[in-house]
Amino acid sequence: MLKSWQPQTTADGSVTFFSPEFQETFHSSSGAKEEALHKFVLPSGLEALVQERKEEGRSDRSPLKNSHKIPIKILDVCYGLGYNTAAALETVWKVDPLCPVELWAWELEPTVPQAALGFLRSYPDPIPEILTTLATELKVNTPQFQGKLEIGDARKTMQRLAPDCRADVIFLDPFSPPKCPQLWSIEFIALLAQHLQPQGKIITYSCAAAVRTALLQAGLYIASTPSVGRKNPGTIASPSPLEFPSLTPAELEYLQTRAAVPYRDPHLQDEATTIRQRRTQEQTISPLEPTSKWKKRWSSIRAT
Ligand SMILES: C[S@@+](CC[C@H](N)C(=O)[O-])C[C@H]1O[C@@H](n2cnc3c(N)ncnc32)[C@H](O)[C@@H]1O
Repeated sequence: MLKSWQPQTTADGSVTFFSPEFQETFHSSSGAKEEALHKFVLPSGLEALVQERKEEGRSDRSPLKNSHKIPIKILDVCYGLGYNTAAALETVWKVDPLCPVELWAWELEPTVPQAALGFLRSYPDPIPEILTTLATELKVNTPQFQGKLEIGDARKTMQRLAPDCRADVIFLDPFSPPKCPQLWSIEFIALLAQHLQPQGKIITYSCAAAVRTALLQAGLYIASTPSVGRKNPGTIASPSPLEFPSLTPAELEYLQTRAAVPYRDPHLQDEATTIRQRRTQEQTISPLEPTSKWKKRWSSIRAT
């Protein structure tokens, strides 16, 4: 029997759920669809990447060029209702309807994508049909789209990913770091980073210093993405330098405070409570500046 998820309509008219377990909604109240497109897909650079590949295809005179197109590879960590994937497919196929896409989607709770199918009908064909098959059969295999929805704890699912799998874009969309620290740990993020193409991007809504530290320690460049529906920006990270403005002095100093102590989950199996407690203990003895001092300094600067 399907678990019952309580639908909540967001300000852009799209519907999200509330998680009683995590005590959080799946999206910001300003809009689930808006967040997927503006917070995840547009800053990821997918549109430009597809355009670039389309132009490369045009200059290639081989008669086999369509069947030889390089697929766009997407890893959707915390697939949820499927909005991030739906918005990505819409964006890719708007630029090039023949562009092949490969998707790895990870989700803990199979009833979430199943209960959300009706909400994806506003996306253009063939997206609703493809994502219905994905949610119900966990696999789709067409010339245009190859996708797998893997159910379980993403930390375990990650271990089944082929070592040579490299994504163009990774959407990292767990519940907030204090609620779901297991998917923001330095160890989990380091493994994700190993599955990026050299120009690939990890995109997340979070700008938490602990998350940014984990991305930096994974050897990635980071930048802020524009804020959408929340007061804070998100973060984009890549093994290659990014075409985004550098972090501001306030953002850089924030990374030198105790808020930047990362979540640690050395064996990728600890409970959220253990991971939170470990971080709190590390913060207590950390030589880093207390974050309250940073806040005071920057609020007085803003006030002047
Ligand atoms: C913020 S919601 C994601 C929203 C989603 N990206 C969308 O577009 O609808 C977080 C999702 O993470 C899932 N989740 C929570 N813990 C998880 C875990 N350990 N592994 C995989 N998924 C998890 C939840 O079931 C929930 O669907």
